[in-house]
Amino acid sequence: MEIWTNNDLYLNEHLSKEDEALQNALKFSRENNLPPWEVSPAQGKLLYLLAKIKNAKRILELGTLGGYSTIWLARAIPDDGIVISLESYENYVATARKNIEYAGLHNKVKIIHGAALDSINKLIADKEEPFDMIFLDADKQNNSNYLRLSKELSKPGTVIYGDNVIRGGELYNADSTDPAVRGSRRFIEDMGKSEYHESTALQTVGIKGYDGFTISIVK
Ligand code: DHB
Ligand code: MG
Repeated sequence: MEIWTNNDLYLNEHLSKEDEALQNALKFSRENNLPPWEVSPAQGKLLYLLAKIKNAKRILELGTLGGYSTIWLARAIPDDGIVISLESYENYVATARKNIEYAGLHNKVKIIHGAALDSINKLIADKEEPFDMIFLDADKQNNSNYLRLSKELSKPGTVIYGDNVIRGGELYNADSTDPAVRGSRRFIEDMGKSEYHESTALQTVGIKGYDGFTISIVK
């Protein structure tokens, strides 16, 4: 919808203007044929503000893509903090590493190449310290697995943000055969039943169309 885009562009201009490093990340990602799935500037700023509100030092991201959201998150943490970001596609990893380097954030970001399920299991096996914030933005059909496994990498107060749960409005459709819809429904229903999480979800409109996200806190 044009009106959603126009209002988002107005808000972004005044509240979440991209600097040169973020613009570079988008440009370089397009040049390397990464899909245009980045969070919007307003959503990037929301992630940044949530990380600051939480005083996050350690953030786990699932789905690096070209590192655009990684840049927003890394900017919100102190110099001795870290964003660990998991990405399965080699081309995305290489592109993200260059974008992070260009943004001068390589000391605060570690990108792990591999399927997120494997990498999470390895982080758990390696007894990685719990994270303050977890951004779920990888393959949506695995979100309930990510939610379950992330328990091992959380502590009371850990904030979990789940991107893209509305699925173009199909989320409510129990008969959908789309794996991302089915995965999102399982994710939402598991969160609703979870003894470990308090959660909500909001629908959004803007430059990414009709979308939405979940937000949870670990009890
Ligand atoms: C898709 C994935 C995303 O994480 C996103 O923000 C937008 C779209 C996708 O798979 O189409
Ligand atoms: Mg996303």
